[in-house]
Amino acid sequence: MADISGELILGQSFGVLESGQKDQVIQELQDGSILMLANLILPYITPIAEYISLGPVTRACASRKKTFRRSEEMLDRHKEVVRSSQPDNLPPSIFAHLFAEQQQQRPQSLQEGGDELDQLEIISNAVNFIANGTETTANTLTYLIWAVCRHPETRMQLLEELDALSVDELDDQHLRRLSFLSQVVEETLRLYPAVAGGLLRTVPAEGAEIAGHWIPGGTTVSCQAYSMHRDPKIFPNPYVFYPERWAEPSPEMRMAMMAWGGGARTCLGIHLARMELRLGAVHFFRAFPQARISTVAGMSDADMEPEMVSFTAPKGHRCLIECR
Ligand code: HEM
Repeated sequence: MADISGELILGQSFGVLESGQKDQVIQELQDGSILMLANLILPYITPIAEYISLGPVTRACASRKKTFRRSEEMLDRHKEVVRSSQPDNLPPSIFAHLFAEQQQQRPQSLQEGGDELDQLEIISNAVNFIANGTETTANTLTYLIWAVCRHPETRMQLLEELDALSVDELDDQHLRRLSFLSQVVEETLRLYPAVAGGLLRTVPAEGAEIAGHWIPGGTTVSCQAYSMHRDPKIFPNPYVFYPERWAEPSPEMRMAMMAWGGGARTCLGIHLARMELRLGAVHFFRAFPQARISTVAGMSDADMEPEMVSFTAPKGHRCLIECR
């Protein structure tokens, strides 16, 4: 997932798959990820931590600065590649069209005092996409593979659906039509949402009634996927991984799902993430139909207990699968 983020966002893979090592940018991103939580709980802590040593928060700020610098270098290289490419043959990245457009508009915008997108804005967005789009998708795919391996009947049904695919049909155009695969993805997102904690919202100035309570305007309210997705009135036997419940979801189920957030502000990468999950799951189970959860090195369900810091991740920081 890190390599996909690198290619799509910064125009270059991080080479994690080839090297088997975490890239520096990804390591620094993870080191800086507690900032998301820190900013949520104490929004003013980051500016203070820049000047006064506040242990892990100050270290996280330093890591985030390094991420910015490295991302900027990679984006500069990518910009050069885009600018030397033919307009009808741009590299497939999120920023390629934007860089190409900037180049075309450059003389006019410089004349008019500069209409170009701010460099800092571009880097901030790039870092935001990588930070939000890498661990989330990687951890969700990990939970999907683990959950399917744990349920032989689910695996069998999924394999039956995949067996019907020809080699030419292994693209997302075909995969998005697979009904059981999409039920498996949905159920994984329900039980193991990558963002399981509270998402903050501000009540409009005129106030609002929420669940029978009057809440004054300006109040910060929040709701979280973890408990919404486990409401037994909406999801019977909520702790059971049961993809079939999504065959004909009720309006209440749809309303309660907030794996991507809820309301006017939601995840910007939903379609990309769904595509990655479908392709990742299909290629994995076609290559390793007999994959099973390993018991070597003491690997057990306890390793997969969701740990929720910035994103939901397996508590044991590993998921050992045997593919023979
Ligand atoms: C399974 C994978 C993913 C899950 C479960 C997920 C979930 C979420 C959630 C719950 C939010 C918070 C929305 C809110 O505040 O209401 C969010 C925000 C965001 N996501 Fe995702 N996400 C995933 C993958 C991705 C990918 C692949 C990208 C893009 C490359 C991405 C980009 C973003 C961005 C940029 C935001 C911030 C939006 C904002 O600030 O308004 N996400 N995501």
